Amino acid sequence: MSTSPIAPDVAAAGQRAAPEQLRQAAQDHLWLHFSQRADFAHERPLPIIASGDGCYLTDVDGKRFLDGLAGLFAVQIGYGHGEEMGEAAAAQMRELPYYTNWNAAHPRAIELAQEVASLAPDGLDHVFFTSGGAEAVESAWKIAREYHSLRGERRWKAIGRDVAYHGTSMGALSITGLPSLRAPFEPLVPQVGHVRNTNRFHRPEGETEQQFTAFLLDDLEQRIESEGPDTVAMVIMEPVQNAGGAFTPPAGYFQGVREICDRHGILLCADEVITGFGRLGDWFGSTRYDIKPDLITSAKGLSSAYASIGALIISDKVAEPFKQPGAMFTHGITFGGHPVQAAIALKNIEIMKRERVVENVADHQDDFRRTLAPLLDLPIVGDLRGTGFFYAIELVKDKDSRTGFSDEEAHTLLHDYLSNRLYDAGLICRADDRGDPVVQISPPLIAEQQQFDEIAGILGEVLTEAATRIR
Ligand SMILES: Cc1ncc(COP(=O)(O)O)c(C=O)c1O
Repeated sequence: MSTSPIAPDVAAAGQRAAPEQLRQAAQDHLWLHFSQRADFAHERPLPIIASGDGCYLTDVDGKRFLDGLAGLFAVQIGYGHGEEMGEAAAAQMRELPYYTNWNAAHPRAIELAQEVASLAPDGLDHVFFTSGGAEAVESAWKIAREYHSLRGERRWKAIGRDVAYHGTSMGALSITGLPSLRAPFEPLVPQVGHVRNTNRFHRPEGETEQQFTAFLLDDLEQRIESEGPDTVAMVIMEPVQNAGGAFTPPAGYFQGVREICDRHGILLCADEVITGFGRLGDWFGSTRYDIKPDLITSAKGLSSAYASIGALIISDKVAEPFKQPGAMFTHGITFGGHPVQAAIALKNIEIMKRERVVENVADHQDDFRRTLAPLLDLPIVGDLRGTGFFYAIELVKDKDSRTGFSDEEAHTLLHDYLSNRLYDAGLICRADDRGDPVVQISPPLIAEQQQFDEIAGILGEVLTEAATRIR
C-alpha cells in the first residue's frame, strides 16, 4: 500500500513535489542501486538531481554540480541535447513506437547497426542490440559458447580479470572480479577464471614495462593451461579497466593476449561498455590499442545514456558458423534494438560527429592530464593514471612506501568522508574502495579547460583536507 506523501493530484498534474516530499517518497518506495538503505534515512539527505545542462547538474534544492563522472561514465554529449533527442524520439514514436528484432527488423535498428559497424574496428560488422551493458556481456559469453558448439567444440569457460566490473546479472557477475559483489550470490555461473589486471602501481620497483607485460601474459597463459585450453570459450577484458582505477595496458599487452587466444582457439571480447564511443579519444578503445577483438560489448556512450540501449558487436569470424543452414544464435531480448532507443542512439552519434566530440577528447586529453598532474604532489595521492577523459587517482597512507589504507580506513575515508565532501564542494566523481582506494574522474566528453580546472581545483582542496584528517 502506498504511503507516499506526494498527493496523487500533484503527481498527476505534473506539478513539482517539494524536495522533502520527494525524499520521503523515495525512502518509502524507491529502492536505490548499490546503496545502503540506512544511509539516507539517517545520515545525509538523499541527492535528488532535477535537471542538467552541458557538464552540469542541478539538484532539487537548486545546488549546482560539475558532473565529473558523466552520469555513470556514459553521458558523452553532456546533458544539453534533450530537445533534439526528444524530437528524434517523438518522431519515432509517431512512426513506430515498438517492433521487435526477433526474426524481423525495422529501419532504425538496421540504420543503427550499419552506423555502429562503420565505427567499429575492421572486421566487426554485425550488431546484436541489448538493453544495456550487462546484457551485452551475457550475450558475448553466450555467443562465444554457441560459436564453439557450432564448430563442434564444447567450450564454456570465460576468463576475466581481478577487480574488473562487467555488470550484475548472473553471467556478467560471474565474470566480474570483485569478491564483495560476488560473495552474496555464489554459486555463480560456471566457470570463470580470473587473471591479473594491468595495475602497475604496486609492482616491484625497477620492473620494466616489457617485464610487466611478460609477467601478465605468463599469468594468462598459466590460467588457461590450468583451466584446460580446450574448455575456454572467451577471454574478456576492458581496454582500460575501470574498477580499481583506470588501469591502462602496458605496451604489447593486447597483442600478446590476442596471440595467446589465437593459439588456444579462444575468442577475445573487448568490454567497451565504458571505453566505447569516444572516452579514450577514439570511437573504440580497441582501435586505440589495436586489440583486434572477436567481440565488443558496448552500451552507455552508444546513446550518451539518453536511452537504455547496448550492443554486442560481432566479427565476421564469429558470425561465420551461424550462416550454416539451421544454425541460430539461441538468444533474444524483447527490447533489444527498440526503435525509439535506436532512434535516440542514431541521433547521439549524429550529434557526436557534428560537435566533434571524439576529436575533443583526442585534442584535449593531454591538457586534461596536465591539469590533473599537480594533484600528484599531494601527500595522499600515490598515483594518477588513465588516458583520454578517463582517470583515477589512487590514495595512499604513506607515499614513499606506497602503503595503502586498511579496509576500515579506506571505507571511512572514501565512503564516509570523501564522497560527501566532494559532493558538498559541487563535484560529482566517484570515491571507490572496491579495489585499492581511488577517486575516478570521467567527465562528459564535451568538457573543456574550464571543467578540467574546476575538477582539479575541487579535488586539490578536498584531498588536501583529507590528508590532514588521516594523520
Ligand atoms: C565495463 C563494464 N561492463 C559492463 C557493465 C554493465 O553495464 P550495465 O550497468 O549497463 O548493465 C558496466 C557498467 O558499469 C561496465 O563498466
